[in-house]
Amino acid sequence: MPRAAITGWGMYVPERVLSNDDLSRMVDTNDEWIVSRTGIRERRIAESTDTVTSTSTASARLACEKANLDPAELDLIVVGTFTADQYMPSIACQVQNQIGARRAAAFDLNAACTSFVYALATATQFIESGLYKRVLVIGTDINSRFLDYTDRGTCVLFGDGSGAVVLEASDADEGVLSIALGADGSAGHHLTLGDAESVVALNGNRTMERPFIRMNGPEVYRFAVKVMGEVAAEAIARAGLTFDDVDLLVPHQANLRIIDAAAKRLELPRDRVWVNVHDYGNTSSASVPIGLVEAFEAGAIRDGMNVVVVAFGGGLTWAAGVVRWGSTGVARLARV
Ligand code: ACO
Repeated sequence: MPRAAITGWGMYVPERVLSNDDLSRMVDTNDEWIVSRTGIRERRIAESTDTVTSTSTASARLACEKANLDPAELDLIVVGTFTADQYMPSIACQVQNQIGARRAAAFDLNAACTSFVYALATATQFIESGLYKRVLVIGTDINSRFLDYTDRGTCVLFGDGSGAVVLEASDADEGVLSIALGADGSAGHHLTLGDAESVVALNGNRTMERPFIRMNGPEVYRFAVKVMGEVAAEAIARAGLTFDDVDLLVPHQANLRIIDAAAKRLELPRDRVWVNVHDYGNTSSASVPIGLVEAFEAGAIRDGMNVVVVAFGGGLTWAAGVVRWGSTGVARLARV
């Protein structure tokens, strides 16, 4: 069975920075509260001209360049997002057009903040089955469009961004080694964006107020602390590895305390856990691929390393995967 190796990666974050002090002038909060409860110091906010398509396209282009891959060679594009600019066409189809991936099939999927890891899992199946050889996986969210900047319980947590990876079929013992996915729809009401009534209103009078992300923070916190460690441990076991074999954990960056709890469950010291929540806050579907890109650029990920990705989010959903970094078994690279 071919493996799905990561051969390219790219990220995009908007330039505009929103600091904790900026937020303290908008809602009743302060830097000390935000840093001590979440670890977040600042986040990036999209310009009005940015779209989920444009930011996805930016990270996708970089990922294809890194893979030394002409987008026309892509077989499939999967975009994970829950803040798409429009219902139809999908972000994936628009990115396909923007980057000239004319041979590629394309679709979006939504598992809230877990979307990228779900998309990675989905793309991996297409490669392992032998159907496709080159798949672009993107995670993007522009959360700021859906934040209530009078609700201090949510608006301080989120930022905007995009990350992408190229997966290619490899004959070597590398790439995605295992995946573990989960969901609990019975707890979905703890973390929502819009509801059925707003859709009815749209149909009835053709106007709709933009919905906001609403969250039961303590409930989501308890859930996240439990599932992040559990699902990562499950993926590590499925890969036939032990905690000692993990070189780097790249977790969803929602809250430093949640990340620390996951690391403790996996008995990992802090230097084997990638943390950038202080710079970007929670970029939802983008947080794991942005973490992968930054960790690689910083030299924290090298060929042969076992990297664990793990995320949780609305749905409620959770997912983890083990990736052995490297692309020695990718035929296309050998030909270049
Ligand atoms: N500034 C100051 N005070 C605040 C703020 C703020 N920004 N937000 C809440 N508070 C207050 C609350 O009103 C409360 O005050 P009260 O005691 O007078 O009622 C107090 O702080 C404590 O509130 P808690 O909610 O108990 O604070 P907690 O320690 O649980 O931290 C937090 C809140 C950071 C939101 C935490 O619950 C958390 O991280 N939850 C998980 C959130 C998360 O990860 N969501 C992303 C999901 S991913 C996706 O799919 C979108």
